[in-house]
Amino acid sequence: MNGFYCILTYGCQMNENDSEKMAGQLASQGYLATDNLEEADVIVINTCCVRESAEKKIYGKIGELKRHKQERPHIRIIITGCMAQKDQERLLRKASHVDLVMGTNMIHHLAAWLGEQRTGERSVLAEAETQIVEEMPVVRKSGVAAWVPIMFGCNNFCTYCIVPYVRGRERSRELADIVEEVRGLAAEGYQEITLLGQNVNSYGKGTSNTFAALLQALDDIPGLLRIRYMTSHPRDMDDAVIAAVAKSKHITTHFHLPIQAGNNEILWQMNRGYTREEYLELVRKVRAAVPDAVLTTDLIVGFPGETEEMFADTLALVEEVGFDASYTFLYSSRSGTPAAEMKEQVPLAVKKERLQRLLTLQEKVALACNEKLLHTCQDILIEGPSKTNSKHWAGRTRGNKLVLWPHQEGQKPGDLIQVRITKAQTWILKGESV
Ligand code: SAH
Ligand code: SF4
Ligand code: F3S
Repeated sequence: MNGFYCILTYGCQMNENDSEKMAGQLASQGYLATDNLEEADVIVINTCCVRESAEKKIYGKIGELKRHKQERPHIRIIITGCMAQKDQERLLRKASHVDLVMGTNMIHHLAAWLGEQRTGERSVLAEAETQIVEEMPVVRKSGVAAWVPIMFGCNNFCTYCIVPYVRGRERSRELADIVEEVRGLAAEGYQEITLLGQNVNSYGKGTSNTFAALLQALDDIPGLLRIRYMTSHPRDMDDAVIAAVAKSKHITTHFHLPIQAGNNEILWQMNRGYTREEYLELVRKVRAAVPDAVLTTDLIVGFPGETEEMFADTLALVEEVGFDASYTFLYSSRSGTPAAEMKEQVPLAVKKERLQRLLTLQEKVALACNEKLLHTCQDILIEGPSKTNSKHWAGRTRGNKLVLWPHQEGQKPGDLIQVRITKAQTWILKGESV
């Protein structure tokens, strides 16, 4: 054994998966995992910079690590992820206790760097390398559900978003590599996989592979009970994917389709590539093909130039679609993006007031969606004990809704069982197994 490592992960599922790959490399080098920073010999901070609030929190955490380095100078502190890609120079200059700044395309170099680096040397590894590295060792957090990245990067350049600058251009894995990995996971006993990409619907663009074909290929793998994916871009969500879900046995009926705003002028300024009407037509098609579809979205409040009338279009859209849930964000200006240069930035107080109204409406709409499931029987994949009551299990419906119910003899994580819904709350369902 070489020592202990601790990885702190911020941001999206892509970062979660990258952290599992870094854990794999650390384990292969003889390091053991710990949650205790005080005993860690290698500390990795995997960062996100999608909004300023995330960034502030992470800079605070990096500052705290200075004390650890002073007390135990031999430890190695590594900053990776999207902020590391964006702020390489600043991190090296301002955080003298950081040993390595490692960009988003370089995580496969971690093991070699640890082997070669001499105490006191400080490095940046952040080339815009675009090749895909297969066969990295992985230490997974869960024994039931696994992340499987299928494409990396983003070409969309929504005007508010930093992701295309820090994750580079779109590139897709080979279909055969993905199928082989998922077969392996199913053979190891994983019941659920989540396919990851900034824009999964553009998987395989420029080749003969498509996302719909990939979904179909995975649906037949023996042992696999649930196939999820995130995130789909509404502009690229095509009929073939909807049809694949409609006729599949295992693909989730959850459609996460981030609309961002309900007003056409704002959508245009965001460079989203669809109108409100086109989005509503997409929702109609999804519901026609998959009647029990669960629909969720992302919404940004206070994009530059958003007036009260324009915001009212977002509120009206939330009611009209009846989203099961929405992830709502205050617009955050990211330097280097076109929207940061736009005039008419919306004052923070106005953004916060609008967000509050949106949240109140979404709660009402979400509860109404859940109440429709009362007294129905749902197929539930058991995830593990409920976080709030150890006598209850937590699991998810095929549409990804969280359900809690009292333990029954013989049930264990990974089982697919039937639960009758007896109580509907805003964000969870309660039931009893049948
Ligand atoms: N590729 C995915 C996810 C990108 S980031 C997608 O396109 O859906 C996740 C969410 O963060 C976005 O959907 C958006 O709602 C939000 N987001 C991105 N940049 C933002 C910014 N500058 N301010 C506020 N929210 C932002
Ligand atoms: Fe960002 Fe848009 Fe790409 Fe999503 S699709 S990562 S919001 S640029
Ligand atoms: Fe954040 Fe990077 Fe994901 S900016 S949301 S960690 S792609």
